[in-house]
Amino acid sequence: MTGKRELRVKPIVNGTVIDHITSGQSLNVLKILGINAASRYVVSVLMNVPSGEMKGKDVVKIENRELDPEELDSIALIAPRATINIIRNYEVVGKHRVDPPREVSGLVRCGNPNCISNTNEPVTSRFTVERTGDDIQLRCSYCEYVIDQEIADHLL
Ligand code: CTP
Repeated sequence: MTGKRELRVKPIVNGTVIDHITSGQSLNVLKILGINAASRYVVSVLMNVPSGEMKGKDVVKIENRELDPEELDSIALIAPRATINIIRNYEVVGKHRVDPPREVSGLVRCGNPNCISNTNEPVTSRFTVERTGDDIQLRCSYCEYVIDQEIADHLL
């Protein structure tokens, strides 16, 4: 726990804290969670918080909301070191790292306009996920196109 002087945002009573998000990715995390001007969730966003093990990190706290597996997979692609903390009655009752899946289906659009997954054919996009440290690279299972940066811009 951080000391009083360092506390940036209050602890939450119930909900989810997504911690250790790659700096700069918190707004993309909100997008993945469908949080926008119309949503009613109480949300706190911290950006570029100094963090021992990372150069800086983002943190997203969402009150009274848990995440589904598809949301966790998408977050893992853009923030592979993120930790998910489940908070109940102020206590951290669950903590785990996201785990980038080996393969993703229907989550990402291929960057190749001629890929069969971008035509009118009923073909769901599919990529194999290759991870080197904190770098994630996606390889299209149909056309071999590689997405190795700005993965968030390709999320469906
Ligand atoms: N947190 C919160 N509200 C609570 C409890 C925790 O917002 N009621 C937040 C903390 O501020 C922190 C995260 O949830 O960002 C994880 O809490 P905790 O496990 O207590 O912090 P650390 O030990 O620093 O976590 P880690 O070891 O994962 O860095």
